Amino acid sequence: PLSRSLSMTSLSGVLPAWEEDELPVEDLLLFEVAWEVTNKVGGIYTVIQTKAKITVDEWGENYYMMGPYFEQNFKTQVEGCEPPNPAIRKAMDALIHNGCQVHFGRWLIEGSPYVILFDIGSAAWNLDRWKGDLWQTCSIGLPYHDREANDSLILGSLIAWFFKELWLQNYKPNVIGHFHEWQAGAGLILSRSRKIPMATVFTTHATLLGRYLCAGNADFYNNLDKFNIDKEAGERQIYHRYCLERAAVHCAHVFTTVSQITAVEANHMLHRKPDVVTPNGLNVKKFSAMHEFQNLHSTSKTRIQEFVRGHFYGHLDFNLEKTLFFFIAGRYEFSNKGADIFLESLSRLNYLLRVRNDVTVVVFFIMPAKTNNFNVESLKGQAVRKQLWDTAHTVKEKFGKKLYDALLTGTIPDMNSILDRDDFTIMKRAIYATQRHSLPPVTTHNMLDDSTDPILSNVRRIGLFNSRNDRVKIIFHPEFLSSTSPLLPMDYEDFVRGCNLGVFPSYYEPWGYTPGECTVMGIPSVTTNLSGFGCFMEEHVSDPAAYGIYIVDRRFRSPEESCNQLTQFMFSFCQQSRRQRIIQRNRTERLSDLLDWRYLGRFYIHARHLALSRAFPEKFKMDPMAPLKVSNTVQTRD
Ligand code: UDP
Ligand code: G6P
Ligand code: GLC
Repeated sequence: PLSRSLSMTSLSGVLPAWEEDELPVEDLLLFEVAWEVTNKVGGIYTVIQTKAKITVDEWGENYYMMGPYFEQNFKTQVEGCEPPNPAIRKAMDALIHNGCQVHFGRWLIEGSPYVILFDIGSAAWNLDRWKGDLWQTCSIGLPYHDREANDSLILGSLIAWFFKELWLQNYKPNVIGHFHEWQAGAGLILSRSRKIPMATVFTTHATLLGRYLCAGNADFYNNLDKFNIDKEAGERQIYHRYCLERAAVHCAHVFTTVSQITAVEANHMLHRKPDVVTPNGLNVKKFSAMHEFQNLHSTSKTRIQEFVRGHFYGHLDFNLEKTLFFFIAGRYEFSNKGADIFLESLSRLNYLLRVRNDVTVVVFFIMPAKTNNFNVESLKGQAVRKQLWDTAHTVKEKFGKKLYDALLTGTIPDMNSILDRDDFTIMKRAIYATQRHSLPPVTTHNMLDDSTDPILSNVRRIGLFNSRNDRVKIIFHPEFLSSTSPLLPMDYEDFVRGCNLGVFPSYYEPWGYTPGECTVMGIPSVTTNLSGFGCFMEEHVSDPAAYGIYIVDRRFRSPEESCNQLTQFMFSFCQQSRRQRIIQRNRTERLSDLLDWRYLGRFYIHARHLALSRAFPEKFKMDPMAPLKVSNTVQTRD
C-alpha cells in the first residue's frame, strides 16, 4: 500500500502538465543526431540507445539516427541494409558521388532503429573548405590541433549537406532534426544558416564550461552568475568549442536539457533558458516474478565472489558471506564524479569497521584510464583460483569413486586412509602455490600514468593497500567491463546486479545514469543533490533513503561535512542484516516506473511538437494555454 500511494502521487507529479501531443508522424521525418550513435563514450549513448524502442514504436520507418561511422562499431552493432525511403537513398548518394562515405543499416538494439553513419575520415579532405564556410557563416574559427572539434565540424557539414539534398528533392514530409550536445551542434548551425526548412531541437547533456569549471575546483553553484564566461572559456582553450555550443543553443527552435539543475546552469553559461527539461529515462523491463531480480542479484554476486577469491588469493582471511560489494563507475572525471570524497569516506569507513564491525567491504572503481593491458598479478590470481578449483575437483572425484566402491561392498571406508599420499601431495602443492609476497593489487591493469593517476595517488595517501587488517579493500578496474574479459568476464549490467551498493557522490552531474540503472535493477545507490538524477528523486519521492536512494548534500555543506554524511550512509548500510538488505532491494526496485521512457518520453514528444509549431507555425499549432491533462492511469505494482 505504501508503494502504491507513493508511486501514484509521484508519477502524476512527474508527468508533464500539458495536453498529450499527437503528431501526424506519417507526414514527418525525424532525425536524431549524436556523436554517440552506435559509439559508446558515456551516458549520451545510454540516452540514445534506451530511448530507441519508444521512438521507433511511435515513428516506425520515419525515424533515423545519425552519427559518425567507425568500422569496428558498424561491424559489431549494425546490420547494413538499403534505405527503405528513396529520398534518403538519393540524398546519401549525392554525398557518396562526391567522394564521402555514408553507411546505412539497422542498429541491433531494442527497437532496431535505422542509422545513417557518416565516415569522417573519407570526408576529411574538405576540412579546410568547411572551416572557411563556418568562419564565413558565423565567425567561429577552429584551431588546427583540436581533433574533436574538427571531427564535429566534418560530421556537421556532412549532415547539413544531407539535409540540403533531401530538401532539394522537394520532399513532402516536414523534417525534424534533433541534435545532441555540442559535437552535433555544427550540423544544426549550418542547416539553419542555409535556411533549410526544418524544425530543430538541441539537447545539451552538460555545458562545456560547467564541466571544466567544476573539474577545476571552482565553487561553481554559488557563483553561477559571476563568471566571465568568455574569459573562462578562453583561458581553458575551449573558446571555439564553447562558441559552437552556444551558437547551436541559439539557433535551435527548441532548446532542452536533461535536468532542472542543468537548466539553471545553461541559462548562466549559454544565456538561453531551456524550453523543456527532458529527463533521461531507461527501458525498464519487468520480470513476471517479483523475486526474479533478487535471484539475479544472487547469481551475479556469486560470480563477483569468484573473482574476489582469485584476486585476494593467499589473503582470503575475510568471510565472503559477510562481504559487501560497493562500486563507482563512469567516465574518469575524478572530482566531478566524486571519486575524491568517496576515497576519503572509504578511509573513514575502514576505521569505523575495524573498530566496530565484522563486515568487509570490497570496493570497485570502474573508470577507464590509459593502460597497457591487465597486470600479471591480477591474471595470476585468477589462474591460482582455477588451479585450486581443479585440484579440489580431482580429489573429490577420487574420493567419490572410492566411497562408492566401498559402499557397493557393504562397508563404510576408513576416512583416515581414503585419500593416499599422492592426493595430499597435490593438495599441498596447490596450497603452496597460493603463497604470495605482495599484497593483493589495487589495480587490475598496468597503468600508463601510475605515479600521477588521481585514484592511485589518493589510495597511496590514505594507505588503503588491501592489507590484512583493512576492512575496506580496493580494486581499481580502469576499463569498462565486458563479458569477454579474461579477468572479470561480466558485462556491466550483470556486475551491477551482483553488487550491494552503487556510490556516485558526483559534484558535476547533469543527470547521471549510473544510480538510475542501479534503481531499476533493485540495487540501492548513493547520489547527490548536485546530480540531475538526485534532484529528480528528491522532488518526486518523499523519503528517497527509505527506498535505497541515499542523497548526499554537496550543495549546502562543506566537502568535509559531505564526506561525513557519505561515511555515515555507508556505515549504516554495513550494519543492515541480509534480511534488511533484501527488503530494501524490493523497495528500491519499486521506483523503476519513475524512470521508464514510457512516461519520460513524453517530454521529447512535447519538445518536437513545440519545434514544429515554431518552424512551421501555419501547419502545426500549439496552444500554450491548453488545459491541464494529467494522466493518472500510471501505476506501479505493489
Ligand atoms: N557504463 C558502461 N560500462 C561500464 C561502466 C559504465 O557501459 O563498465 C555506462 C553506464 O551504464 C552508464 C554510462 O556508462 O549508462 C555512464 O553514464 P552517466 O550518465 O552516469 O555519466 P557520463 O559518463 O555520461 O558522465
Ligand atoms: C537475494 C537472494 C537470496 C540471497 C540474497 C543475498 O535476495 O534471493 O537468496 O541470500 O540475495 O543478499 P545480500 O544482500 O547478502 O547480497
Ligand atoms: C552527460 C552527463 C551525464 C548525463 C549524460 C546523459 O554525459 O555528464 O550526467 O547522465 O550526459 O544525459
